[in-house]
Amino acid sequence: MLFIFASILSLIISGVVAQNLTITINGTASHPIPTTMYGWMWEDINHNTPQASRRVEMVVCTRNVRNSYYTERQWSKLFRAVLQNRAFQQVTPKTSAALYAWSSFGATTLTVVDKSVTPSLSTALPNSLQVQVAPNASGQIGVSNSGYFGINVNPAWTYTGSFYYKVPAGTKAKGQFLAALRSSSGAVLASKSITLNPSATSWTQVTFNFKPIATPADNNNVFTLTVDGASTAGQTIFFSMFSLFPPTFKNRPNGMRIDLAEALQATKPGFFRFPGGNNLGQSIAGRWNWRNTVGPLINRPGRLGDWTYINTDGLGLKEYLDFLEDVGMPSIMAIWAGYSFGGTVPENQMAQYIQEASDQINFVIGDPAKSAAAALRASLGHPAPYPLVAVEVGNEDFFASDTYSAYRWPDIVGNLSAQFPSVQFMATTNVGSPVLKPKPKLYDVHVYQTPTWFAQNSFIYDSFPRDGTKYFEVGLDPTNGEFAAISTNPNDLFGAPSDGRLLWPTVAGTVGEAAFMTGLERNADIVFAASYAPLLQHINGDQWTPDLISFDAKNVYKSTSYYMQQMFSLNKGDEYLPSTLPSKTGTVFWSVTRRIATKEVLIKISNTGSASSSLTFKLPFNTVSKTGSATVLSGAQNASNTPTAPNTVVPKSSSFTAAKTFTYNVPGFSVHVLSVVAS
Ligand code: AHR
Repeated sequence: MLFIFASILSLIISGVVAQNLTITINGTASHPIPTTMYGWMWEDINHNTPQASRRVEMVVCTRNVRNSYYTERQWSKLFRAVLQNRAFQQVTPKTSAALYAWSSFGATTLTVVDKSVTPSLSTALPNSLQVQVAPNASGQIGVSNSGYFGINVNPAWTYTGSFYYKVPAGTKAKGQFLAALRSSSGAVLASKSITLNPSATSWTQVTFNFKPIATPADNNNVFTLTVDGASTAGQTIFFSMFSLFPPTFKNRPNGMRIDLAEALQATKPGFFRFPGGNNLGQSIAGRWNWRNTVGPLINRPGRLGDWTYINTDGLGLKEYLDFLEDVGMPSIMAIWAGYSFGGTVPENQMAQYIQEASDQINFVIGDPAKSAAAALRASLGHPAPYPLVAVEVGNEDFFASDTYSAYRWPDIVGNLSAQFPSVQFMATTNVGSPVLKPKPKLYDVHVYQTPTWFAQNSFIYDSFPRDGTKYFEVGLDPTNGEFAAISTNPNDLFGAPSDGRLLWPTVAGTVGEAAFMTGLERNADIVFAASYAPLLQHINGDQWTPDLISFDAKNVYKSTSYYMQQMFSLNKGDEYLPSTLPSKTGTVFWSVTRRIATKEVLIKISNTGSASSSLTFKLPFNTVSKTGSATVLSGAQNASNTPTAPNTVVPKSSSFTAAKTFTYNVPGFSVHVLSVVAS
């Protein structure tokens, strides 16, 4: 008998047997839901490096030695530029790898050369592309760029391009350039003729635009820049800093890809965390240094990012800030805190990095009359400060917590909080360990775990002290505002990847994350923000899976977790209404909030088990709308949205009969947002 009872109990706990639950809602709010509750964490990225050497670097880099799971795949979250390796940044001249994404078109020889061969366009861009036209050349000859795994050619768009060129002193440039987009079979899809300046013996910029006249069959298209071989036979031409952009989000010059930006905007994010993540710095010299990311593109040297490929830094601090302003999300901005995988700055050398961080913050919020960095912002067209929620001091500094506690946190926060009394600083070591002075008011904690872990840890914050400290989504194991269900195998999380590592978010992961997020809302008095991570993945060049949104040169693929995050974010409500607590060992989790202006009661439910459950809700209000609306995401446990089946699991809307007491059925592996109007 005892055995049968225990077996049934175990089936209920594992979610295999249907449950009937009654949930009583309290009409008095216990705490507000912060406007920053759900947002995005974004690092990088403008992919710009030779593929072959990128693979080698991944094997040897320190980060990969520590966390070998990073070696598995390449990670790319490129967002906007069409041409890859556009300015030959950070490559080794005279190597074939330096020509990554470029190839010759017709009878030419291409070499990336440094300033010993020809003076470079700028100090920041020491390399140029040398094109030698064969003495017997004829027809169109020149260079071809394959883009970021192809180029989306859309006849509805006008593409805007530019490049710099020159010919050696004592020679004359002849003929005409033809800038074009071509299909894989060579068909010209868009083109523009540009007359060469015969006396262009110093760097000369050309700008152009064109509109495609045809839709190609696929994305295997290239950009070409050619000249007539016969009239330029034997000539040498140097090029630098190519650029080609389709229309951008909000028409920002040098801006974001529209479809991806709109996918983010559609979630109404409450914040935007940048520039990392790990991408803050692989080495001390190669740290993300805001100064190298602002101003003219030709003054940005680029850097080897932590994900072992070169960032162009075309997406710089000002572009980040304009983007978040266009979407309407404030920033959580990280500053480099003296620690990289490649080394830690000694205390007696910290002053320059604290000054760099101070200038970075001033660029964002400073007064142009008082700060040169703020004056620079104003000179770039934005005199007003940008919204800033918090400054994050480093990223995952639990990897070097001894120096963080000994001097990096106290020196940085001590200095910067005196300069910026209104700014909140966020620590990135494990909560409470080591003890940091001054005591952090904000902690950033990261959890990459299994779907089951998330479902089982929905209560993790309930026992946290209410002592004034607030959390950017925290977990305890490992202590770490990033979270995602990344594997079904616990051994896969911080060791070599095993079979459990997910390529795409699955329904099981998504319902686990949703269960966890009901706990975040219940604890939103101390959890002020949370973000799924990583955000974006190019399907032809990823380095970390799973990601929230995948894309290729043309398409955007939204994952199950994206839709769930959107459901939560659009319905976060203004205040939390306590209700009967879910069982800590159960499989059905919920949270209840209220949107004050519309009197909507918003009930979020996640069923992480396979059995359906019947939930009876009791509302303590005099009037309740007769009909409620439901948004439901539901699918098979291991189902994912993939590039070949992008709409396998998408939210569906329906209505249900509501009343002061109503019953609602939740099938296995489903997430729901219910809305009723009640007062
Ligand atoms: O989101 C991917 C990485 O995970 C982030 O860069 C880092 O903060 C965490 O380890």
